[in-house]
Amino acid sequence: MRSIATTLLQLVCLLLSLHRSPCSGAAATASNFSSCLVSNGVSNFSVPTSPGYAGLLHSSIFNLRFTLPNVAGPAAIVLPESRDDLRRAILCARARSLAIRVRSGGHSYEGLSYTTENHVPFVLVDLANLNRVRVEPGSATAWAESGATLGELYYAVGRSSYSLAFPAGSGSTTGLGGHVSGGGFGLLSRKFGLAADNVLDAAVITPDGRVLDRSSMGDDVFWAIRGGGGGSWGVVYAWKLRLVPVPRNVTAFTVGRTGPVELIAGLLHRWQYVGPNLPDEFYLSVYAPTGSTDGNVSISFTGQVLASKDHALSVLSQSFPELGLTERHLSEMSWVESTAKFAGLSTVEDLPNRRRQPKQYSKSKSDYVQAPIWRNDMAEIVRHLSTGPTGSIQLDPYGGAMARVRSAETPFPHRAGNLYSIQYGVSWNRSEVARAEEFIGWLRSFYKFMAPYVSKDPRAAYVNYLDLDLGVNNWTQAAGGSSAQAVARARSSWGEAYFGGNFDRLVRAKTVVDPGNVFNNAQSIPPLNIRAEE
Ligand SMILES: Cc1cc2nc3c(=O)[nH]c(=O)nc-3n(C[C@H](O)[C@H](O)[C@H](O)COP(=O)(O)OP(=O)(O)OC[C@H]3O[C@@H](n4cnc5c(N)ncnc54)[C@H](O)[C@@H]3O)c2cc1C
Ligand SMILES: *[C@@H]1O[C@H](CO)[C@@H](O)[C@H](O)[C@H]1NC(C)=O
Ligand SMILES: *[C@@H]1O[C@H](CO)[C@@H](O)[C@H](O)[C@H]1NC(C)=O
Ligand SMILES: *[C@@H]1O[C@H](CO)[C@@H](O)[C@H](O)[C@H]1NC(C)=O
Ligand SMILES: *[C@@H]1O[C@H](CO)[C@@H](O)[C@H](O)[C@H]1NC(C)=O
Ligand SMILES: *[C@@H]1O[C@H](CO)[C@@H](O)[C@H](O)[C@H]1NC(C)=O
Ligand SMILES: *[C@@H]1O[C@H](CO)[C@@H](O)[C@H](O)[C@H]1NC(C)=O
Repeated sequence: MRSIATTLLQLVCLLLSLHRSPCSGAAATASNFSSCLVSNGVSNFSVPTSPGYAGLLHSSIFNLRFTLPNVAGPAAIVLPESRDDLRRAILCARARSLAIRVRSGGHSYEGLSYTTENHVPFVLVDLANLNRVRVEPGSATAWAESGATLGELYYAVGRSSYSLAFPAGSGSTTGLGGHVSGGGFGLLSRKFGLAADNVLDAAVITPDGRVLDRSSMGDDVFWAIRGGGGGSWGVVYAWKLRLVPVPRNVTAFTVGRTGPVELIAGLLHRWQYVGPNLPDEFYLSVYAPTGSTDGNVSISFTGQVLASKDHALSVLSQSFPELGLTERHLSEMSWVESTAKFAGLSTVEDLPNRRRQPKQYSKSKSDYVQAPIWRNDMAEIVRHLSTGPTGSIQLDPYGGAMARVRSAETPFPHRAGNLYSIQYGVSWNRSEVARAEEFIGWLRSFYKFMAPYVSKDPRAAYVNYLDLDLGVNNWTQAAGGSSAQAVARARSSWGEAYFGGNFDRLVRAKTVVDPGNVFNNAQSIPPLNIRAEE
């Protein structure tokens, strides 16, 4: 019965599609898509009427803003179990003219891995089951499927050797698919660069279902996938990563300081001269939450040093005595233990646990600082911050290896000349959802207030700290199409902010690998030469 009904529906869809009117009913498209999956042997998928659908959809939505009822869900969620499943899922979605969204860790700040613009019907390809990591300690390399999380990668590396590590971000549930695609900054980046700087090879599924490696994808595409942002190039099935050497123990610490605005501004002012100029073995960042208590504000410093406590203490007490670091702040531990600590986990065993994920409603923005902010201005900034709704700024020191990579070597352009990045965020909980616009409004006004102190022309931003306020593509079809105007708009609104002078090379790479713009999202790279969809 069901299959006859399905076939009839498909026939109707087919007839309608001959008249170029959209086949109404996402259900019809989805069932057609489902039958394509089934006939190709892809068995793990879920449609809106399946019992597990909502649970799967929400499983890795990190930003709860995108769980609200105004956000349209996918026509189907597919969980490929193998590279071939992944290829077939892409081909089925294309054959059915469904848009494709690929999700690894689901940490996109703007939900781009599981939403579409203008309610275009789409398939969510969730890589959660493609999470195998194979470490080869002998050659200090690893192949990691891109659905693996950073926690899963760190755990696998830590188990294989205490003297190997991988330089990437600190959230344990962040996915390798999106993270490495956008660069990937972390506590080892001043010593070893970004995650993307340590990619040796990759397997990429193209819009027409081919599998490319480094040599077959060509230089422009291999360059583009290492920092040009996720979702534009095809699906990265797996990354080959270069592992880096670390001492048996590293030194880790967190130091909180509380005091009046002037005192805290003094510490932040001083940090600007220290953090970016320490030896490469040192990472020292600042986290400053909004708000104040009885006139006092609080900040905390996070440090990781690839050396002993004694060495860390002697260098930091000399270069930054105001920090007030003492021996009791410092602990020595293996690198993998430090990744658990900085991810907020109590044990290394929690690193691969995908459910240890504090979800929240949030909005973020980012900036780069290229000249130290004056002390009086810093006090104004701290004062402004102290009046905000729940939120924070995070200052990450650059310099070291970050400054030794040329800006054009990868799409990520924020290299020499950048002292530190700022990540701004506000977050709220369920009971405050009605006030979301007020909180986001505060964030935007703070960002405006910061304009004189940060990079200009363009005002730079980090693509992994995605911010749709910078502008959007606004595609209206499954395969986005494109136009010279779309390229120009993308360049001047967010393209140059994220990629500086690298934007045009990204457009060239996109035009080679995905001229029909199958892999698109609100801030994907548009192709220049337009080939109509067949
Ligand atoms: C808690 C938290 C901590 C973070 N910490 C850091 C940090 O320390 N350093 C840092 O640099 N950034 C950090 N980020 C930002 C993070 O790097 C980005 O949000 C990143 O894009 C997330 O990757 P994902 O796979 O988890 O996200 P997803 O939402 O799954 O994907 C993000 C984008 O990449 C695309 N994509 C996903 N998988 C693939 C794939 N296999 N092939 C092609 N495209 C793909 C998606 O379609 C989407 O456009 C953090 C974010 C969060 C929420
Ligand atoms: C699905 O629909 C398309 C047109 O929309 C049609 O060409 C195709 O035959 C259908 N697939 C199946 C399996 O019926
Ligand atoms: C599909 O994958 C999900 C996520 O890993 C898993 O929970 C589920 O059991 C799988 N379903 C089937 C039928 O294999
Ligand atoms: C403010 O911080 C200072 C330390 O700088 C501390 O001595 C003082 O007690 C704090 N005041 C309040 C009200 O917490
Ligand atoms: C590493 O640190 C741990 C915990 O402090 C300590 O017990 C161990 O002796 C250290 N190992 C080395 C080789 O320094
Ligand atoms: C939500 O946040 C507000 C403000 O921070 C707080 O007062 C309230 O207790 C929180 N509610 C829940 C359910 O966490
Ligand atoms: C996006 O395009 C749709 C359809 O053309 C239009 O209605 C909408 O206003 C556009 N949105 C933006 C932000 O440009």
